[in-house]
Amino acid sequence: MAHVAVHPSHSRVHPQQLQVLQDAIDLAGKTVIPFTTHEGSGLANCVSDVKKAFPKATVTQGFSIYGHEVRSGKAKVGKWLKEMGY
Ligand SMILES: Cc1cc2nc3c(=O)[nH]c(=O)nc-3n(C[C@H](O)[C@H](O)[C@H](O)COP(=O)(O)O)c2cc1C
Repeated sequence: MAHVAVHPSHSRVHPQQLQVLQDAIDLAGKTVIPFTTHEGSGLANCVSDVKKAFPKATVTQGFSIYGHEVRSGKAKVGKWLKEMGY
């Protein structure tokens, strides 16, 4: 089963958020799909931060969308999910 890591962009994934996840779940051998909302930074360091935090997981290409586009951007999210095979 794949895990989707969703967070709002505050320049980087907050280290405490990753620490909480690291302590809570073992993602070794799992697939992590990084997904972030932002207001200009895009994915920023999201993918590399997640890779560093979970070196034993498979981290896919990430996806980002403007926070203000979330409600009107369902088609973009749908297209991304379809490309990911969901
Ligand atoms: C404290 C704070 C810092 C933020 N820093 C960034 C940032 O560095 N880059 C960016 O693109 N958006 C930044 N944002 C915007 C958030 O990514 C945005 O609020 C979030 O994606 C949710 O979107 P929404 O406010 O439209 O719901 C910041 C927001 C807050 C509250």
